[in-house]
Amino acid sequence: MDSLYKISLLIHSWNRWAVLIAGALVIIYAIKGLSSGSAYKPVSRKSMFYFILTMHLQLLVGLFLYFVASPITTHALSDFGAAMKDSTARFWAVEHAFLNIIAVVLAQTGSIIVKRKSADRDKHRISLIWVGIALFLILLMIPMGLMGPDRPWFRF
Ligand code: HEM
Repeated sequence: MDSLYKISLLIHSWNRWAVLIAGALVIIYAIKGLSSGSAYKPVSRKSMFYFILTMHLQLLVGLFLYFVASPITTHALSDFGAAMKDSTARFWAVEHAFLNIIAVVLAQTGSIIVKRKSADRDKHRISLIWVGIALFLILLMIPMGLMGPDRPWFRF
């Protein structure tokens, strides 16, 4: 179980950069598209695709860590009441998991609405709003010191 924990934490830790890079590209292309009035090009579609893909991988590995591999959350789940009184346990057991799940739902909903819109301007606008809010939540909840415990930026 220890090696499964290490491997899943490593994947979850590095995939955060893929999530952030793909999300930043979605935002950059949406702002460019809105300011220049250009078409919704394949690069925009591809960056949205990779953002959703990496978010789903993050969610999947996150759920595995949460319920199976992480000693922190499995311990918190065994006595949820006590975990709520400890700020670090509460961060992992509630805040990080819950807000990131909301971020995944927002990103997925945004990408579905983008597909349904036909005007390029609407596609750029929806991408900017939904992915922007999702990224904001993700940045708040990544344990890099903004909120919650400080974890390594690059785990080896
Ligand atoms: C979707 C965006 C998410 C991002 C960007 C993200 C990012 C991170 C990062 C950077 C860490 C620290 C890794 C390290 O220490 O090297 C972490 C840990 C963790 N994440 Fe996430 N996460 C996300 C979603 C989730 C979700 C949805 C869950 C659970 C439902 C989850 C559960 C956990 C757990 C349990 C840990 C660490 C536990 C431990 O150290 O034992 N994450 N996450």
